[in-house]
Amino acid sequence: MTHGNAPIEQTASRHGTWRSRGTFILAATGSAVGLGNIWRFPYVTGEYGGSAFIVVYLVSVLLLGLPVMMAEVALGREGRHSPLITMQKLIERTRSHRIWLLIGWSSLLSGFLIASYYEVIAGWTLRYALDYSGQAIGLLPGTTDVQQVWSAFLSSPGQLILFQTLFVVITMAVIARGLKRGLEKATTLMMPVLFLMLLALLVYSLLEGDPAASLSYMFKPDWSALGVNGVLAAMGQAFFTLSLGMGAIMVYGAYLPEGVKVPSTVGVIALLDTLVAIIAGIALFSIIFAHPELQPESGPGLLFITLSSAFEVMPGGVLIGMLFFFLVGVAALTSLLSIVEPTVAWVVEKYNASRLRVSITVGVVVWLLGLGTVFSFNLGEDVLIFFGQTFFGFLDYLTNNILLPAGGLLIALFAGWIMPREVIARQLSLEGRAFLTWQILARWIAPAGILAVLVYTWFSAG
Ligand code: PFF
Repeated sequence: MTHGNAPIEQTASRHGTWRSRGTFILAATGSAVGLGNIWRFPYVTGEYGGSAFIVVYLVSVLLLGLPVMMAEVALGREGRHSPLITMQKLIERTRSHRIWLLIGWSSLLSGFLIASYYEVIAGWTLRYALDYSGQAIGLLPGTTDVQQVWSAFLSSPGQLILFQTLFVVITMAVIARGLKRGLEKATTLMMPVLFLMLLALLVYSLLEGDPAASLSYMFKPDWSALGVNGVLAAMGQAFFTLSLGMGAIMVYGAYLPEGVKVPSTVGVIALLDTLVAIIAGIALFSIIFAHPELQPESGPGLLFITLSSAFEVMPGGVLIGMLFFFLVGVAALTSLLSIVEPTVAWVVEKYNASRLRVSITVGVVVWLLGLGTVFSFNLGEDVLIFFGQTFFGFLDYLTNNILLPAGGLLIALFAGWIMPREVIARQLSLEGRAFLTWQILARWIAPAGILAVLVYTWFSAG
């Protein structure tokens, strides 16, 4: 057995390594930028009254998100395996308690649970993108009653299952092709397209919307609407949006070439992720505020009802609608890849199985679990046996409010307290004051913040 500060054991994962720092940045940004930025961020911001929520979110990204993200990449690159096997190896090396294996197990559990609802919601965006495309080429008629279209769609399990299936098949086809030909190729192709689509949307919203109202809503602090719930929601959002707490970034870190500097790389990823959320927010609210009859506080239906209503009456709205929903779909796809990769990588490593077979199996399991979310919006709408919530409501709550923060807490503590200082310092290429700053954040600040979220969640759930 090797000891904690032994030299690096392995310099590449069996799945391969990213070609460069750039492709890692694109893939990890692809993981981070997703439904969390374009669907969840604007509607949660709306629910908590705008700018004050954004301030807390930004502080949380800096103080909780960045140190945990650095820890995930460092642990992943040191272990060079899927999160569960990486943790097994690091626990052996540090001779620490097996309780830390929870990090690995929860990565598998969270992966299945998040993937199962994420693919269903991503399916909605695909349906809207195809619908707008149909309208754009004159194949489908325009909509007069957006609310009705939305309700009819949600109440049809067949339609939801169709788009869910399409989405799972696309995702697993990419995953099955492996790191280089699948993940890397897909993300390097799609991310630039995503950035371009976002810029186009921003320009359109500045020209056709009400940017002044949007900017003041997002950046003029109104502390009254925030409350404790808002603060905790902002911390949770910082976690979810950076893909932290379930080993997604850890497994991408396992594919990172030696020599790439972690802190600045992680900084770029967090910055891009935050920029996308802010730009999406500015664009969306600018469009929404141009229509006084529309409200920003409409919850999860914000994109599908509120924004769609605006597209119906705006010049070029059909084309912009098409572009927008493709944008969200692409963002969701590149995130979903990272949600299933830890599990796929683990089964391949553990059972020496072929990636293709594993991808199909994981895809089928995720699809089956996803049916629970599908039925939460129709047949099972009133089945509130999961702590008073639908199956989807329960999964969303369990993963965002409990599993991801708990995973992040354990990761910060393991990297901060258990891993030998030299190993983490080498992985992060930090020394002196800079290392100390990371250490204080990982040992104290991030755990305290996350613990506050967890404790509050626990008591407010009762
Ligand atoms: N970061 C993604 C988003 O903002 O939509 C969601 C996500 C991806 C969460 C990967 C967790 C994860 F491991």
